[in-house]
Amino acid sequence: MIMKIDLSINLAGIKMKNPVMVASGTFNLEYAKIFDLNKLGAIITKSITLKPRAGNPPPRIVETPFGILNSIGLENAGIESFVLKELPLYKKLKLPLIVSIAGKTEQEYVDLIKILEKEAGISAYELNLSCPNIKKGGIVFSQSPEILSSLIKKTLTLTRLPLIAKLTPEVNDIVKIAKTAEKNGISALALSNTFLGMSIDYKKRKPRLGNIFGGLSGPAIKPLALRIVYQAARRVKIPIIGMGGITNFMDALEFIIAGAAAISIGTANFINPKTALEVIQGIKDYLRKNNLSLKKLRESLK
Ligand SMILES: Cc1cc2nc3c(=O)[nH]c(=O)nc-3n(C[C@H](O)[C@H](O)[C@H](O)COP(=O)(O)O)c2cc1C
Repeated sequence: MIMKIDLSINLAGIKMKNPVMVASGTFNLEYAKIFDLNKLGAIITKSITLKPRAGNPPPRIVETPFGILNSIGLENAGIESFVLKELPLYKKLKLPLIVSIAGKTEQEYVDLIKILEKEAGISAYELNLSCPNIKKGGIVFSQSPEILSSLIKKTLTLTRLPLIAKLTPEVNDIVKIAKTAEKNGISALALSNTFLGMSIDYKKRKPRLGNIFGGLSGPAIKPLALRIVYQAARRVKIPIIGMGGITNFMDALEFIIAGAAAISIGTANFINPKTALEVIQGIKDYLRKNNLSLKKLRESLK
């Protein structure tokens, strides 16, 4: 008899048919032309800001060995346009929608949630506290336990939906930041965003990115991101969405074994838009072959 594999999870109250999501900024509704988006565990939108943002000067993406550097700079049409034009399309899908928001100040996060709270069809908010392009006093929000605590406390009171904190990997002690977020009542962690990097064209003797610096993503960061998930998962009880360089089911399994309750696919979507589907199938086959549940797999690290 073929064993029925149940991939469904309840991630801090978000009911998903499988643990595979697509990462903020790397996926949009155009993918619906390629496959049925309802097969995904959840969709996370690109980060939305209060006002429209034109983004950083070009070039904004360069390829690097086994990865890409991006300095998109949160280009987006702003919350008003999102609510009017994009949200109605997302609402037609039958899967949890997680809206990612980013602000320059604490107040902007507050205002964004207040606006989104008036809308139906949203399952959770992801607070992007880690965009290398938005800094307060030279640091991103999730680099400071104080700024992080204050922001979580303010936003928590505004909604009954789960709040996910997306953290930067660029800290000395990820456990300290993860525990700070947990202590202040965050529902889940997204670990993690990109690593800051740069690339120089030696012929022109010029940085390749218009913004000089950009976030490194893709397979190049996988061992770094995996280590962060592993460290945090051992010390917090809230669920972790693991990401960073996942390109196939084997990468995804590594993150789950490291302690991730769910995983997110980012850069790989640009190379193979069906990566998430292949990852779902691969996880399913692996569990069946090894007679494991997702939970057992997560607790199986020797
Ligand atoms: C082009 C591009 C745009 C991104 N935009 C966002 C964004 O708007 N908000 C966010 O939280 N993360 C953003 N990210 C980060 C990804 O969501 C993800 O955390 C990161 O790329 C690591 O995963 P990966 O190696 O699978 O890409 C972006 C990444 C890329 C490559």
